[in-house]
Amino acid sequence: MGNMNPTQTWTALLHGRDLLEATLENGTCRLRLIGCEALLQQVRALRERHGDDPQSWALPAGSGHTDMLIRELILKRRGEWDFPYKDAEICHCRLVATVIVDQAIVTGAHTPEVVSRWTSASTSCGTCRPDVEKIIAYRLGKTS
Ligand code: FES
Ligand SMILES: [Zn+2]
Repeated sequence: MGNMNPTQTWTALLHGRDLLEATLENGTCRLRLIGCEALLQQVRALRERHGDDPQSWALPAGSGHTDMLIRELILKRRGEWDFPYKDAEICHCRLVATVIVDQAIVTGAHTPEVVSRWTSASTSCGTCRPDVEKIIAYRLGKTS
């Protein structure tokens, strides 16, 4: 209908556990939050300090799942989310989807060895291992 100011939504998700969603409508940012007490508390503190729009939140420095989800939401909201692997399947030997590897990393698999143990990615030819390493580094907030 020629809406010049469409609603925009950004989401960070840990499947079955945590959902963090920001919706911008007519200049107002609303948050939707489903998840653990740690996430609720961390988001509450950010809102009290920086307001409701994740665009102006400080990036969390930690490496817990709540830090990773909040960082994802902030970067998506700023238009700076640049996930380092774009294809849907990351491990073609074991047929492992990228989202499976990513969710394992958010859950706590912070080395390629643990990712392999949890997902079976990189357990055959090993070609995909550098991409797994890139996602780990990105999720942990390490640059390049
Ligand atoms: S592509 Fe992942 S082990 Fe071969
Ligand atoms: Zn949680």
